[in-house]
Amino acid sequence: MTANRSILVLPGDGIGPEVMTETRRVLDWLGKRRAVKFDVAEGLCGGAALDVHGVPITDDTVRKAMEVDAVLFGAVGGPKWDKLPFEKKPERGLLRLRKEMDLFANLRPAICFPALAEASTLKTELVQGLDILIVRELTGGVYFGQPRGIERLPDGQRRGVNTQVYTTDEIRRVVRVAAELARKRKKKLCSVEKANVMESGVLWREEATKVVTSEFPDVELSHMYADNCAMQLVRNPKQFDVIVTDNLFGDILSDAAAMLTGSLGMLPSASLGARDKTGRRKALYEPVHGSAPDIVGQNLANPLAMILSAAMMLRYSFDLEAEAATIEKAVEQVLAGGIRTADIMQKGKARVSTTTMGDTLLRELDKLG
Ligand code: IPM
Ligand code: MG
Repeated sequence: MTANRSILVLPGDGIGPEVMTETRRVLDWLGKRRAVKFDVAEGLCGGAALDVHGVPITDDTVRKAMEVDAVLFGAVGGPKWDKLPFEKKPERGLLRLRKEMDLFANLRPAICFPALAEASTLKTELVQGLDILIVRELTGGVYFGQPRGIERLPDGQRRGVNTQVYTTDEIRRVVRVAAELARKRKKKLCSVEKANVMESGVLWREEATKVVTSEFPDVELSHMYADNCAMQLVRNPKQFDVIVTDNLFGDILSDAAAMLTGSLGMLPSASLGARDKTGRRKALYEPVHGSAPDIVGQNLANPLAMILSAAMMLRYSFDLEAEAATIEKAVEQVLAGGIRTADIMQKGKARVSTTTMGDTLLRELDKLG
């Protein structure tokens, strides 16, 4: 008695639909070869929703996202909608989903596939074997803090305001998720803030220390200022195991971490809420890369980050560890076979399109059975 797992697919804008098409082929493969069936509904988000409904996401789509087992998300945004007022921007669709679904824990693994070690802009020996996990707080901090806005001052100037704010509970719950994950890895957790200049950072450091020392005595906790962390990530990234940090620092540090792996086109992510009484948690899976307007519609995009995000969905939402590992293995084999999209192209390798990358991956999956 296994009820079908329900997924809401939101391809979004730019290269989102292109990479999502390849990902859906992988889901179809799972249905055929592994009898893993999904009920897949599709919806609009970002500019795609703006063009049809005049809003970056409709209430109906948000409601559906809350009901399904998992949301698979492509990317949002593009030059066509850049000049819109803030509340209408495509990005608001994604931010609204994160907030209303309360997806406070954003997992961004940066793993360097052996075949890509040389594609990184860093020296091979620095990134070879790299496996770090950034846990980014996703529903608080300066992204959502009040007051915010742009106001007119009496002297005619304008003033832009955003507020960095965290409560103990917001810090504790994300640190807990990170510490639990560290426990299953090398048991090393680095908490990142700017406690030297920000009160919210002082609180972050104190609460992280309390949570880890009282609940995770087996996890080794260290602290680092965010600027130093950015530097350490490019100096000696393998010193890290799990990093936990706030919304804005996590946004920035995860882009830096992505490049260590060869390309932003390789980095998946999972955004998770709290578990309810039945153990179920709301979840959204998306690649860390954006909508890449410069290459849209040219069949150039790398679909692997989106496909690896679907693998994370299998692992975290559906407990299908074997299937997740199969997809990751297939990605590794494709890369080992010298197949590359433009973003990870290296001398002597075969440069392929989005769809050919999808074809090649499916062939590897067939071999793995
Ligand atoms: C990310 C993106 C988003 C963010 C944008 C698209 C709103 O950069 O997921 O990293 O800033 O969180
Ligand atoms: Mg970002």
